[in-house]
Amino acid sequence: MRAGSSNTAALEALSLLAPIDVTVRRYTELDTLPAFNPDLERGALPEPVTRLRSLIGRADAIVISSPEYARGMAGALKNMLDWLVGALEFPDKPVALITTSQRAEYAPGQLKLVLTTMSARVVEEACITLPLLGKTLSAAEIAGDDEFAAPLRTVVALLVSAVG
Ligand SMILES: Cc1cc2nc3c(=O)[nH]c(=O)nc-3n(C[C@H](O)[C@H](O)[C@H](O)COP(=O)(O)O)c2cc1C
Repeated sequence: MRAGSSNTAALEALSLLAPIDVTVRRYTELDTLPAFNPDLERGALPEPVTRLRSLIGRADAIVISSPEYARGMAGALKNMLDWLVGALEFPDKPVALITTSQRAEYAPGQLKLVLTTMSARVVEEACITLPLLGKTLSAAEIAGDDEFAAPLRTVVALLVSAVG
């Protein structure tokens, strides 16, 4: 959600690098989701949750890029995942993880644990770290540098093959 986020830039770079027959749609509504509360799942779902679940339902695969905060995944991301625990649309989706900080030691492992608990299909070889910490690169600059572009292309290719 941060303006100038390296995670956003990495996701946009992936979108620039994806082949023409792969549509990448970035979810930009994390901050519209209410705090997860199971009581709210009993009646009509909050509109942002319905939209999220519908987007997930239409996606063949998911790419997550998250900062590490206080040795954990970003709280807003965990909140989004909590809203997907009870979603029929989520299980078995191939998921790739991008980490843009070479210092992040805890969040990637936590994310994998949460995602496998939710029956996602984490594609291990598509979980990568891009050493972007300390560089303020735009999406185009990331996509134009083979050190970053090559692994991002591989992530897309692995997800495409995981979709089958
Ligand atoms: C409140 C706060 C806590 C952070 N805690 C950690 C941490 O525990 N481990 C780490 O590697 N980086 C930590 N960071 C650094 C961020 O993970 C890093 O700057 C990240 O690349 C930011 O992603 P962004 O560019 O997408 O905003 C922290 C940053 C903030 C603002």
